[in-house]
Amino acid sequence: KYEQDLVGRKIMITAGPTVENLDPVRYLTNRSSGKMGYAIAKVAAARGAEVTLISGKTDIKPPENLKKFIRIESAEDMYNAVISNLDENDAVIKSAAVADYKPKTYSDNKIKKKDGDLIIELDRNKDIAYEIGKIKNDKILVGFAAETNDIIENAKGKIAKKNMDFIVANNLKESGAGFGTDTNIVSIIEKDGSMTKYPMMTKEEVASVILDKIKILLDNKSSL
Ligand code: PMT
Repeated sequence: KYEQDLVGRKIMITAGPTVENLDPVRYLTNRSSGKMGYAIAKVAAARGAEVTLISGKTDIKPPENLKKFIRIESAEDMYNAVISNLDENDAVIKSAAVADYKPKTYSDNKIKKKDGDLIIELDRNKDIAYEIGKIKNDKILVGFAAETNDIIENAKGKIAKKNMDFIVANNLKESGAGFGTDTNIVSIIEKDGSMTKYPMMTKEEVASVILDKIKILLDNKSSL
């Protein structure tokens, strides 16, 4: 069904939520189902790319024909998996919803209920996209921006700070967009600040739009 136009291209995709353990029974996470990232992995592999999919906890079956499938739990695991596979990829698409914070301490035993409130201190996680942006050289880095307000301004800030080639913004408050749905409504923002808003599409259609743009960027680089 898809044209084989990404043969020889090596693309790493991150998908799903991260899980930050608090004790053996509890964790902090978010509502990402992995559908967006898995759709990108599926379409990229179907178009002939060599795909490395790094996935948080999801209920979805990994697509066929992946070069590598790496299951991770925490943001730290995802960081390690991404960095150790970075060299062998031409492009990275960061559709995962990475926790910005993790519990400061992990309790080996279940935390017991006590009188009064419980305060949990959180530490910052590394920003994986930012770390890639610092060392990526001529690799393509595509980010997502999941926002509930001031979408475009926030996305523009992220593209510059994280040295991304473009960013895909989705508004978590719009119905048919964001977490858990089979569709998404996205705006793509370029480095120069120009923006294209797309209508509601399936996540596979969104994947095709993103991959078409990556193909053009990679083709331009190889012809230099
Ligand atoms: O999985 P689904 O249910 O299909 O939902 C899809 C989605 C809503 C999760 C997806 O479309 C999406 O928007 N993913 C990015 C979610 C997110 O974490 O956005 P952010 O605005 O917090 O982060 C911006 C970018 O930095 C993202 O590319 C993110 O992967 C990256 N990041 C963020 C924090 C961090 N510590 N490390 C990162 O690399």
